[in-house]
Formats: sequence, C-alpha cells, structure tokens
Amino acid sequence: MVEIESVRSRFIKHFDGKTGNIYASPGRINLIGEHTDYNGGFVFPGAVDKAVVAEMRINDTEDTVMAYAIDLKDRVDFHLNDPAGPRTSWARYIYGIALEMRKLGVPVKGFNIAFSSDVPLGAGMSSSAAMESCFACGLNDLFGENKVSQWDMVLAGQATEHNYCGVNCGIMDQFASVFGKAGCLMRLDCRSREFEYFPFKPDGYRLVLLDSKVKHQLAGSPYNDRRNSCENVVKHIAAKHPEAKFETLRDCTWEQLEEVKAEVREEDYKRAHFVLGEKDRVLGVCEALNEGDYERVGELMYQTHEGLSKEYEVSCEELDFLNQIARENDVTGSRIMGGGFGGCTINLVRNDLYRTFIADAKKRFCEKYGHEPKVIDVVIGDGARKLC
Ligand code: GLA
Repeated sequence: MVEIESVRSRFIKHFDGKTGNIYASPGRINLIGEHTDYNGGFVFPGAVDKAVVAEMRINDTEDTVMAYAIDLKDRVDFHLNDPAGPRTSWARYIYGIALEMRKLGVPVKGFNIAFSSDVPLGAGMSSSAAMESCFACGLNDLFGENKVSQWDMVLAGQATEHNYCGVNCGIMDQFASVFGKAGCLMRLDCRSREFEYFPFKPDGYRLVLLDSKVKHQLAGSPYNDRRNSCENVVKHIAAKHPEAKFETLRDCTWEQLEEVKAEVREEDYKRAHFVLGEKDRVLGVCEALNEGDYERVGELMYQTHEGLSKEYEVSCEELDFLNQIARENDVTGSRIMGGGFGGCTINLVRNDLYRTFIADAKKRFCEKYGHEPKVIDVVIGDGARKLC
C-alpha cells in the first residue's frame, strides 16, 4: 500500500505545513457475478490490499476545497457551492462525494486534501470507487461525527458516479471498498443488500490478475448502453405481465425472456440472456466453494468469460487472448473482471501451474502485443478506514 509518510510529506508541503487525518480505502476484485449488480442479482467481490490513501484537514473556509493529486502532481482548488464544480476528472470525485455527503446531512465545509493510490487505473479494480469511499470516510469523520452508516457511504459513492461522473454503475464496487474484510470474499444480494462474508483460502490454488494494460474508460461508454439494454428487456416483460412487479432482470425468468425474444433487439436479448445465466453462476460458485470444489468454480468462471465476450460483448481481443492462454495452460478458471472494455483477467490457478502459466502468458502476450501483461497477485484486504 501507499506509504503514509509519502502522503504526509506532500500534504505538509502543498498546504500550510499542518497535518491532518489519514484515511484509506481499497480497490476490489470480483470472483464472479459481473454486470449483475444493476440487475438486482448477486456479486462476489472482495477488497484488495491496494488502496487510495488520503490526508484531509478542515481549512476553516466556507466552501473552498484545495486538492492535490500526488501521483499526477496536479493541484485543483474549487468551491463546493459552485454548481458546475471542477472540470478535472479526478477532482469531480471529491466534489461529487462532498455534495452527496451534504445531502446525507453532513455539514461539509472547506477542506484540504492530498491523496495517492496504488490501485491500477483502468484495470477493472475500481480505482474510482476506492476514491469515493476513501473521501466519504474522511468527510464522515471530519464533519459528520461518523454518523453516516456504511451503506449510506456506499450509496453516496454510487450517486457520485451517476450524478457527477457519467457512469450509471451498480453498487458492487463501492460496497466492496467500504465493507471489505481481510481474507474474505463477500456474497452480496444486490436487491435485498444482504451479504455474507466467505473466508477465502483455497488450499493449493491462488488468485492472480493479468492486466492487459488496455485502458478502459467507463464514462460515456457502452457500459451505460448495456444497462439500458437490460432495462429495456425488463420493460417488455413487464408489459406482458401487468399483474406482477418487475423491477430488474432479477425478477424475470428464462421463459419470460423467451416470450419477448421476437420483440426486442437481438443485442438486448443477448445481454439479458447473459445476466440470467450469470445470476445462477454466482449461486453455483457459492455452492462449489462450500464443497471445496475449486474445479467447478473454475468452470463457471470460464462460462462467465464466454458470456461476457460473446453475449455481453464487453471483452476485447487482448483479454480473449489471455483467457485462451489460461485454458491452454490448464488454469482452473479465468475470465475478464470488472466492467470490461479492457483491464484484466482474474485467474484461479493451481500452485504447481502458476510459474509456467505466468511465464507463458508474459511471453506470448508480449510477442503479440509488444508488452507484457502486468501480474497482480491478489491479497484480500480490509475496507475503508481511518489510518491515523
Ligand atoms: C463496474 C461497475 C460495477 C459493476 C461492474 C460489472 O465495475 O462500477 O457497478 O457493474 O462494472 O460487474
């Protein structure tokens, strides 16, 4: 994780020499359950040991925020009462979360903030949710006597994406970043918001991410189109069954999807078809984990990759290639992780195959694309917290 001292020294240097409080909030992985969160389905994420670390201090102004992004060496000052807010994309997360925390009754005024992150950007590990949860945690502590609940911070982070950053995301990323617990994955029912911690220590296996370094950018992207497709299918199903309540695809059956097949676009049908299958796969993984059947977990991961690639169409050539290399190396499970359009694959690998798989993936990927994928070993860490 980012060193506290390196954040502190920049905070002192860039502002008035005083120190503040330091907060951290992690990125996440997701074992299975992709694009199910905004469809009311299940997800299976865990927080990682890579995080956004921010130092924050009240500056006694009415609404002036002085912000420094250490990694970018970029300083932006703005006013919370300015309805337009800052233009710089990273600063919009600070502005957005501050206004969302105000909506929750936290009397946020001016503050100074400097932050740094080791969550890889655009890798599908939710670097933006890590920022939102970290800043929410800090504002709750500095201005709100920590009265805002963890769930409300999750929802404030999601609202920041919707209202200030242009991504109509679900709640998985912010949930994982806030509720994460070292050594545990979490199965979340995104409809009821009930969740369960699953200690995850697969005997004889390990989880590794291969980052293709193809950058994804969800804002204004086909991510929102995918969500619209799903909602469109739900509308059609609901119109056929006025007696029942359909909020998301979670409420729809395979039969009902078939009933509307002819009237929705083929693309929308394929998206919904993936989501219904993915909902079942998450439950299948839970069962398999309970039985210690990692080979079954892996099979389901491969099925998810197929669906994300062919039906949901959020993969890319580089990620399909990494998935193919995993198959050829007898890796137990492999799939694209996160929103898609680039980023990494998550791989469940037997310990004895790890070295050869990684060496083969590096070599072949480099031969084809001119650079090696970045290898990120997964360590499941804790969620948002005050460090000092
Ligand atoms: C992004 C979004 C999440 C979720 C995933 C796909 O990470 O922020 O809400 O939809 O994509 O599972």
